[in-house]
Amino acid sequence: MRTPLCIANWKMHGTLAEARPLATGVRDGLRRVKDIEVVLCPPFTALAAVAEVLAGSPLKLGAQNCHAEASGAHTGEIAPPMLSELGCGYVIVGHSERRREMGETDELINRKVHSVLAHGMIAVLCVGETAEERRQGLTFTTVEGQLRAGLADVAPEGIAGTVLAYEPVWAIGTGVNATPSQAAEVHGYLRGLLSELTSKDTAATIRILYGGSVKAENADALAAEAEIDGALVGGASLNAQGFVNLVKKTARAGVAVRGT
Ligand code: PGA
Repeated sequence: MRTPLCIANWKMHGTLAEARPLATGVRDGLRRVKDIEVVLCPPFTALAAVAEVLAGSPLKLGAQNCHAEASGAHTGEIAPPMLSELGCGYVIVGHSERRREMGETDELINRKVHSVLAHGMIAVLCVGETAEERRQGLTFTTVEGQLRAGLADVAPEGIAGTVLAYEPVWAIGTGVNATPSQAAEVHGYLRGLLSELTSKDTAATIRILYGGSVKAENADALAAEAEIDGALVGGASLNAQGFVNLVKKTARAGVAVRGT
């Protein structure tokens, strides 16, 4: 059965002076939590400091992006081996902010997925439609295109080592989350595609997270959907107590829906 997962995406927030107390607050608040995995993705500059804070705790470390190559003349970029060396187990790939602001294409995102997996980390592949695409009835077409392109030529065992995040662009940072049923519908569709690309059994093991204005107040309703395996959280992950509550609610809802 799939263990629920909450990933904190701090985005471009967190000087060292901010990151240490935030990570400490989350770590201490979740000391006794069970039935869920938690990953913190601070900015690159805070990875080492957060790794120190999390050492010996069950919380895991992730990065928000990486370059597709293992090394080379790429000024200002960060390579996957640099991240795994710091203890990152997860890398977010294809976030809509990077697609939009940095012009990341599906082809580039696919190369990053390959590279993250080749370096022994879990790729968190983000897909999601814009408001306009949803209005035009293109939600499934959009996410299908992003999923197939992002996972192109990835072997089934590799796909089994990924996490998907459905993040409708219109829900990110807007305070307007997708309803649990809207999200569950897309998650079910994505899982069907994963079955095609791997097998029904493998697809049943892959976590599909929802992201977009998740907070403590709506996390349980979202996680109560059997198809929603946790959350990718931006804004609400910047407050330790709020994020701790969100994780606890997700864990409880996950146990309830999975009956374990
Ligand atoms: P948000 O961001 O929770 O602030 O909407 C989610 C994300 O972009 O991953």
